[in-house]
Amino acid sequence: MEDKRLSITDERTGSTYKIPVADGALRSMDLRQIKTGPEDFGLMGYDPAFMNTASCRSSVTFIDGEKGILRYRGYPIEDLAEQCTFLEVAYLILTGELPTAQELEVWVGQVRHHTMLHETTKKFLEGFRYDAHPMGMFISTVAALSTIYPEARNVLDPASRRLQIQRLVGKVPTIAAYTYRHSLGYPYVYPDNELSYPENFMNMLWRMVEPRYQANPTLARALDILFILHADHEQNCSTNTMRAVGSSQADPYVSTAAAAAALSGPLHGGANEAVLKMLDEIGSKDRVPAYIERVKAGHVKLMGFGHRVYKNYDPRARIIKWTADRVFEVTGRSPKLEIALELERVALEDDYFIKRKLYPNVDFYSGIIYQAMGFKPEMFTVLFAIPRTVGWLAQWQEMLEDPEQKIARPRQIYTGHGKREFVPMEKRVAKVASAAR
Ligand code: CMC
Repeated sequence: MEDKRLSITDERTGSTYKIPVADGALRSMDLRQIKTGPEDFGLMGYDPAFMNTASCRSSVTFIDGEKGILRYRGYPIEDLAEQCTFLEVAYLILTGELPTAQELEVWVGQVRHHTMLHETTKKFLEGFRYDAHPMGMFISTVAALSTIYPEARNVLDPASRRLQIQRLVGKVPTIAAYTYRHSLGYPYVYPDNELSYPENFMNMLWRMVEPRYQANPTLARALDILFILHADHEQNCSTNTMRAVGSSQADPYVSTAAAAAALSGPLHGGANEAVLKMLDEIGSKDRVPAYIERVKAGHVKLMGFGHRVYKNYDPRARIIKWTADRVFEVTGRSPKLEIALELERVALEDDYFIKRKLYPNVDFYSGIIYQAMGFKPEMFTVLFAIPRTVGWLAQWQEMLEDPEQKIARPRQIYTGHGKREFVPMEKRVAKVASAAR
């Protein structure tokens, strides 16, 4: 809906343009008419890192970063974390509505039906080195599913899309658990479809010789809550990757693998692993002030702090802190928690962090919980990728169904040479610095 028009006067030409504004945004394509002459390509927006560019319209997730609000399909994250299971929330995110009891039963059945991996995928996983990073294994194995389900390329068929979504939501915990067992040298455990989604995941991770795995209900619920909190987060780096790769009509397996690759970086989902490494490096509470000084001097970042969107306490971090207390009642309190709490206390009182509105984000406490539950830090980002697969798929569907979307293809401002005369080999002089040689 058009709100009003923006009047732009081009001081280069003296021309004035009326640009429509709708939903607090102007369309960058409307700038193209602003030209200095017929040869001019027209004005573009220049926005490295998408600091102020909306790339889509989306009805999945709402964030108000100033107020610390996060909602999926209109429902506050706090209500969903308290009252729903992860699969219930997954249904909400994927379809737009909370399921009735019957719809939930059908959906849970569909996901369960797809928890097994093809034996060749299992063998594929066995081929990784014993010390392969679980996230690398996860990304590659999700991509490899594309070879098992070639019909998934039919991305414009809604029925095929639904089937691939069920498969992916069903299989990502299995892949994640197998990467974990692989890194420990243990045999893979087949899914147990009598168990709930988090219980079955725990079964595939930790069952040894016992005939039936009994998950601790507090830990299973904590895992489910962590999955809910990580399920979607609107247009972040990995979701943008999912949409960009999916916009070429690549299949959902390779698109999800690409999104997971984006997630793996330490500035995104890899931050939870980086937080644990940071806490290890700090070592004890009394060394916190010295570390904060290093952060302020720009030598290191305070991992798990800061967010592009939240300029207030990340609402997920608050729920995670609450969940951590429940987990520690079972596992005992982690000594890392003392360091984390002290880091948070010192940082939140310090001008450097106050001025920049840097608060703990979702990754600050999640790693401490995961470690208390028995996960190695290398697994943390994989634990993030399992639930985020739901968000990626919901955004992928939305992108494919949006008539305004096309293949994602940004513009650039070219800064290279103008046309140059070709130089034959015998006349070339070495000019390239060491990196290329
Ligand atoms: N430690 C110290 N200083 C920081 C931090 C931090 N964690 N984060 C931002 N700053 C400073 C930054 O140096 C800059 O200062 P100045 O204005 O003096 O140059 C200012 O705050 C603004 O930061 P920015 O880098 O422009 O902010 P951004 O929106 O580009 O980056 C971020 C957001 C999440 C990449 C960044 O805050 C960061 O690197 N945090 C640590 C990594 C982390 O915890 N990532 C997880 C994010 S939440 C989950 C997810 O996305 O998966």
